[in-house]
Amino acid sequence: MPKPGRPRSQTAVERQREIYLDGVGAQRPLVPAASGESLEAAARRVMSPEAFAYVAGGAGLGHTLAANRAAFGRLQIVPRMLRNVEARSTSVELFGRTLPAPLLLAPVGVLDLAHPDAERAAARAAAALGLPMIFSSQASVPMEQAAAEMGDAPRWFQLYWSKSDELVASFVRRAEACGCEAIAVTLDTTLLGWRPQDLDLGYLPFLRGMGIAQYTSDPVFQRLLDEPEEAAAPSARPSLPAIRTLLEMVRRYPGPFWPALRSGRAAAAVRKFISIYSRPSLTWDQLGFLRAHTKLPVLLKGILHPDDARRALDAGMDGIIVSNHGGRQVDGAIAALDALPGILEAVADRVPVLMDSGVRSGADVFKALALGAKAVCIGRPYVYGLALGGEAGAGEVLRNLMAEFELTMGLAGCASVQEIGRECCA
Ligand code: FNR
Repeated sequence: MPKPGRPRSQTAVERQREIYLDGVGAQRPLVPAASGESLEAAARRVMSPEAFAYVAGGAGLGHTLAANRAAFGRLQIVPRMLRNVEARSTSVELFGRTLPAPLLLAPVGVLDLAHPDAERAAARAAAALGLPMIFSSQASVPMEQAAAEMGDAPRWFQLYWSKSDELVASFVRRAEACGCEAIAVTLDTTLLGWRPQDLDLGYLPFLRGMGIAQYTSDPVFQRLLDEPEEAAAPSARPSLPAIRTLLEMVRRYPGPFWPALRSGRAAAAVRKFISIYSRPSLTWDQLGFLRAHTKLPVLLKGILHPDDARRALDAGMDGIIVSNHGGRQVDGAIAALDALPGILEAVADRVPVLMDSGVRSGADVFKALALGAKAVCIGRPYVYGLALGGEAGAGEVLRNLMAEFELTMGLAGCASVQEIGRECCA
């Protein structure tokens, strides 16, 4: 359980001391101190095989997952000495906000796979630290409910561009209304990648009514549900597992159970979601629609080519998140960290460039910043923390990453983020 009165901002030394002092009382941390393989292994022990496969899995043979890690492995920090790093500041400015560290919670869907409190718990963990959480389009909890956990702490919304422009506009309107401060449009998932871990289990959470809460809570989506469906193929006599899945869907659908079951609306919502959640025909021309529908900064997530970064600027976008979706989409894709320098060169400081995919330590955060990223998004590690200890577990993972980043920065000879540059790495 989280200890009440935990400081909102904790220095690295305080975090170390906390862990060591807890150890004196034989109290072990909720999560491993390293946020890589040991954290993943610990989470695996408490998650169902299906949930773990969905979170940990990557596309194809896992080459992109491996490339993300290998890229961090190739870059090496070259610490400098005698530079007075007694006072250290990890804070950064992003879209007018001062963040305590250059870290955001990446949009990760279906967080109830990790913990029943799902986005609510992650939102509280993020807010307690002042780190922005990016609400996923595929969340298990409507954005308004997650936002309600956050007070005035920063949050963004991640958009999957639906086949319905009206639904896109509605999502953006709701994001603005619940205090989101930026929209990140994810471009790399117009189709779901080939994910053997999930395919081998025949498991896709959305088909069980999981991860579609933004849709079922949306007035436009509800109206679309009222439209007559295309005739569904006649189904065979349902098996017992299929009936169980249907009941699961109904349980997750908002409102009372029996009407949702009897009317078939919960199952219809899943079918409607599948038919409209993504638009593979999307092109650059359509970004203007979003620009016209929001005053919020818009970032493009999933950019890996410098020419696409240039096009993003031409389209009036306000930022870029270099990402290969944590290796979940294209197997054999370029590591996000390897794509970063070319994109930074193309962008030439005109908008902030963030990155994610494979960040597993404070040292990784330092390396991404040394190449020129403004901040990084953390994906799986906080989800594993959530699986291990809900809000407190996710919070520990984030505090560990913040502490390790601060120590790495200081030990490398930098007193502030502004001092981290390309010369810090070989
Ligand atoms: C994701 N990611 C993701 N991205 C997005 O834009 N919308 C989404 O709904 C999701 N959902 C999602 C689910 C799961 C289980 C994972 C692991 C990832 C991608 C995510 O935002 C981010 O790009 C990666 O997770 C970053 O890589 P690491 O940190 O997980 O290696």
